[in-house]
Amino acid sequence: MTLSRMNVESKTHLMTPGPVASHPDILKTLGLPMIHHLSKDFQATLSRVLPKLKEFFVTNETVFLHMSTGYGGLESAVVNTLSPGDEVLVIVSGKFGERWAEICEMFGLKTERWNIPWGDFADPAELKKKLETKPYKAVLTQACESSTGVLQPIEDFGRLTRQTETLLLVDGISSVGAVKLPMDAWGIDVLVTGSQKSLMLPAGLAMISLSVKAKEASKKSKLPKYYWNLNFEEANLKKGRTHFSSSVSLIRALDTALDLVLKSGLNVHLSNVEKKSTATLKAGETFGLRVFAKRPSQSLTAFQLPEGVPGEDVLKSLEKQNIYLAGGQDKMLGKLIRIGHMGHIENEDVVYVLRKLFSLLLEKSPQSFTAKNLDLAIAAAQTCLKS
Ligand SMILES: Cc1ncc(COP(=O)(O)O)c(C=O)c1O
Repeated sequence: MTLSRMNVESKTHLMTPGPVASHPDILKTLGLPMIHHLSKDFQATLSRVLPKLKEFFVTNETVFLHMSTGYGGLESAVVNTLSPGDEVLVIVSGKFGERWAEICEMFGLKTERWNIPWGDFADPAELKKKLETKPYKAVLTQACESSTGVLQPIEDFGRLTRQTETLLLVDGISSVGAVKLPMDAWGIDVLVTGSQKSLMLPAGLAMISLSVKAKEASKKSKLPKYYWNLNFEEANLKKGRTHFSSSVSLIRALDTALDLVLKSGLNVHLSNVEKKSTATLKAGETFGLRVFAKRPSQSLTAFQLPEGVPGEDVLKSLEKQNIYLAGGQDKMLGKLIRIGHMGHIENEDVVYVLRKLFSLLLEKSPQSFTAKNLDLAIAAAQTCLKS
């Protein structure tokens, strides 16, 4: 057995849509001794991180940090820009859209849920019509709806909302740093992400940025906010600190992560993620799987399993081999296999995991798949990854 084969077989393969496999440099930074968050050393870290975050969000605006998971960032987006009774349109095309609608409802917003069948995306022509009929204060959407693997046409949405008073609030938790999503150029008014996705950190940091239009709206926003108040954050960032205690270890690791992601330029990083996504899509289709998303995101791929193949059993069997993939959520429980392309994943890991997954599916459902297609699928993945 070759050394590289031994390595790939003895590794833990975390290829879910988040959390994702971390990079050894990040793990090393996470293990450094604790320092105080008001020390000169930490202030220096924060002052390095802030401009890099702007590069990561492709914005000239400040990117704020909350010591929370991604949902903290989504709640912050709502309470910092909106007021009770505001009419908002929430694109609900999966589990994460549902939850953002719940946040809006909880805060007393007049929430219109635009329900899209799971696996599908919101049609910009429909959005245009909706914007013509009502002066929504905001449209809220995921960029990638992680429960289905769909990538929403955010550039088109931004083209529409930027001509109106309506704000475009984007949950970029499973997409910033994984798919093209330039905040300023595409007219995104609020963009949120979380640390456990393309930044390869543990969960625990949310990042949020507001456009000039969103900042104007925030001056009039009357929803209650204390922990999430971005005015506090802005005032403190000017003094070189966050308003509440900084998560020192995570922010130092964020400094390392941003260096890794931006090292050869964000676009090179995005192309690497895309290559893994293309390889997975091609391999899956060649093997005979159906891609669930009508407009697949490069950050993750959701395959729909043939009727009768128990998705949860497949995941459990893979876990026994140290391979972690994700299943379907809610009504798609047991029916999907979701594979993440973010994180520290080598090309050989992709091939190894796909081979293990397909072999297991062939074993569980020999009537749906063939050994010949398995070999062709792996060859297709290898060709994509080499290109
Ligand atoms: C699109 C999307 N939104 C929101 C979240 C929730 O983030 P967190 O679990 O960090 O609060 C996730 C996490 O999986 C996500 O993928």
